[in-house]
Amino acid sequence: MYRLFFDLIFQRMDPERAHHVAFSWIRLAVRIPVLRTLVRAALAPTRPSLKVTAFGREHAGPFGLAAGFDKNAHAVDAMAMLGFHHVEIGTVTAQPQPGNPRKRLFRLVPDRALINRMGFNNEGSAAVAERLSSRKEIFPAVLGVNIGKTKAVPEEEAVADYVTSTERLAGHADYLVVNVSSPNTPGLRNLQAVDQLRPLLSAVREAADRTVTGRRVPLLVKIAPDLADEDVDAVADLALELGLDGVIATNTTIAREGLGLTTDMSVVEAIGAGGLSGAPLKARSLEVLRRLYARVGDRITLVGVGGVETADDVWERILAGATLVQGYSGFIYEGPLWCREINAGLADRLARSPYATLADAVGAETRKAAA
Ligand code: FNR
Repeated sequence: MYRLFFDLIFQRMDPERAHHVAFSWIRLAVRIPVLRTLVRAALAPTRPSLKVTAFGREHAGPFGLAAGFDKNAHAVDAMAMLGFHHVEIGTVTAQPQPGNPRKRLFRLVPDRALINRMGFNNEGSAAVAERLSSRKEIFPAVLGVNIGKTKAVPEEEAVADYVTSTERLAGHADYLVVNVSSPNTPGLRNLQAVDQLRPLLSAVREAADRTVTGRRVPLLVKIAPDLADEDVDAVADLALELGLDGVIATNTTIAREGLGLTTDMSVVEAIGAGGLSGAPLKARSLEVLRRLYARVGDRITLVGVGGVETADDVWERILAGATLVQGYSGFIYEGPLWCREINAGLADRLARSPYATLADAVGAETRKAAA
């Protein structure tokens, strides 16, 4: 049904316009009490076996919406209505900014992939904080807040920019993510180098502790799949050294590997710069996750993202070492029933597995490979 709709309507629309149209329908549905109750009951039934604990709190399940879809926190309840167990809003920057000129989002339908160079278009951390403080929760979902650097701010002032957003947003976050891995803000990914990342994460940690009293806001870093293996190891070691709560692996890639089989490479080249997501990212994201787990084990919570399309993909990430798993591009291609299918399939995989709980399954394959 959604496939037909996608082919007939969405595929003919500009991808960013299609996003706005679909987004406004989802937001409309959550405003109508009877409708939202019915949709939630149909798409997000409670599945006790999927419960996981991460960052010191219980999640109804491991599967969440990756950053970038709900940049300004307009639709946390709406996404929970569709069955996402956690919703990561952002990336939010200290100053509002329009992002890159359009056209900046492209579909590669035969490859089940997207290329984007949105460039952190968002309303800024003051506006998003205001929205979150007036939010009345309808459906429970764990709320992640993903922050990044304002484009106009020079790299030397990046730390202060992240600190400003932390001061405004940490109090609203169930977990906070420092994004240093989007390819569409010039220089941002240089912050992944350990000598830059250490002062940045320390300053954000300190700002979160200073602004939020009565609890410790979990802090994560989101990394790129384009890091060399030894740099992945260096980030893992730094995360341990700083007592970080988690690492999210991965963001989009600037590589174009895995393309060209179904989409003509000339089409890919004509699109130009941007981050590639979806199916072609699957192998590298999984590889980075395995590498991280081999290094940090259960000492740090890992979040697997990149090319996740099916319940089997989620299960594979869990066995590789992820406690939580996220998706974005799969939602564009699979539509509103996506979470229901994933969550039902995952409960089934767990029931057929030798593991009593999802927690028992986390990292089992990576540990086996290392033994
Ligand atoms: C993203 N992603 C992203 N990530 C992030 O940390 N901050 C952001 O603002 C965005 N924005 C964004 C926009 C668009 C259009 C896409 C497709 C992606 C990256 C996203 O969160 C995720 O890491 C990757 O897309 C890989 O997952 P999927 O899409 O393969 O499931």
